[in-house]
Amino acid sequence: MKAFSPIQVGHHQLQHRIVLAPLTRFRATLEAVPSELMVEYYAQRSTLGGLLITEATFIDELAGNYKQAPGIYTQEQMEGWKKVTDAVHKKGGVIFLQLWHLGRVGSSSLNPAKEPVVSASSIPIPGNNPNGRPYETPRALETDEVKELVKRYKRAAINAMKAGFDGVEIHNANGYLLDQFVNSHSNKRTDEYGGSIPNRCRLSLEVVDAIVEAIGEQRTAIRFSPNGGIHGMKDDTPVETWSYLTSQLQQKHPQLAYLHFIEARSDFRQDDKVNTVDTLDPYRKLWKGPFITAGGFSTASEHAVQLAEKTGNLIAFGRSFIANPDLPERLRSKYDFNKYNRQTFYTHDAVGYTDYPFYNTISHL
Ligand SMILES: Cc1cc2nc3c(=O)[nH]c(=O)nc-3n(C[C@H](O)[C@H](O)[C@H](O)COP(=O)(O)O)c2cc1C
Repeated sequence: MKAFSPIQVGHHQLQHRIVLAPLTRFRATLEAVPSELMVEYYAQRSTLGGLLITEATFIDELAGNYKQAPGIYTQEQMEGWKKVTDAVHKKGGVIFLQLWHLGRVGSSSLNPAKEPVVSASSIPIPGNNPNGRPYETPRALETDEVKELVKRYKRAAINAMKAGFDGVEIHNANGYLLDQFVNSHSNKRTDEYGGSIPNRCRLSLEVVDAIVEAIGEQRTAIRFSPNGGIHGMKDDTPVETWSYLTSQLQQKHPQLAYLHFIEARSDFRQDDKVNTVDTLDPYRKLWKGPFITAGGFSTASEHAVQLAEKTGNLIAFGRSFIANPDLPERLRSKYDFNKYNRQTFYTHDAVGYTDYPFYNTISHL
């Protein structure tokens, strides 16, 4: 089975293609330092030659600051992450850090100086936030601030190397800052970062260029969600937009560790109905390197294994990997899955985090 056959990703030969999707869990300390609990959680999910992607991690304290989400901008945070990467490596695993800036999804109350949230344009997310209040209207970044942002991502990538990561994944999905630049409905800029598809994609590509310059193509990866819809994302010509991004990356950086795409069907805020309609073929065809597909496989694990067989894709699992620390083994051996508990996705302790049982520790009599 291809899902359990080796594949080269960056500098690493993986032994299987089942990937831990990036999953925010809010188990860091109040100083945004990775905790001992996080060391245990990632170690539990590490396998020989298996790829883990961390939860989204703030590039600096202006990038969002959600309580108990981790950062990668202080010495303590780097040391905390080093314990995670050491524990994962000890089991033969490979781990990439996901780099995060919320943009307009954030809140001025989380900014150290209580300054307004920022975005590509001064356009709020339509509707209400999870607290039932309208989203804040962001301030559009000045052109020189956009250029500064590229340097901030680069610094975070360098810090990730100091923390022992094998690479970084740029979070360019799910309606966060970089996605806000790419989508036509959230970007109405008139400078070189807005308007045409190349202009809206310019920031993402500059961030990739800067990180590649600092740590190399093989340690750099990026995540996209064409047609995602989360956080008010909408683009007039999604296939053209993400095909442009993909072909630019293929042309300029063919050795990137991987491209990671989320299926349009994916909305992890609701429980899935089985849906196996795949929408990522246009981008798959343009990218010759490792390609990760994510979204909606938790209720369609057979489909995941078949898709890997057909395409050679790596498959990232979110909710099933939360509930099954030994997910690759369960898939390989066709064992039943533990069910995830949504109530503990974002709580702050071990319950629903490190206490999901491994298959071989459950009594099956
Ligand atoms: C609790 C939770 C937290 C998530 N946090 C992140 C995140 O930090 N970064 C990200 O790119 N996606 C995040 N996602 C999306 C997942 O990576 C994944 O794309 C989604 O869960 C769909 O995969 P699934 O159907 O296997 O769960 C999160 C999803 C869940 C359920």
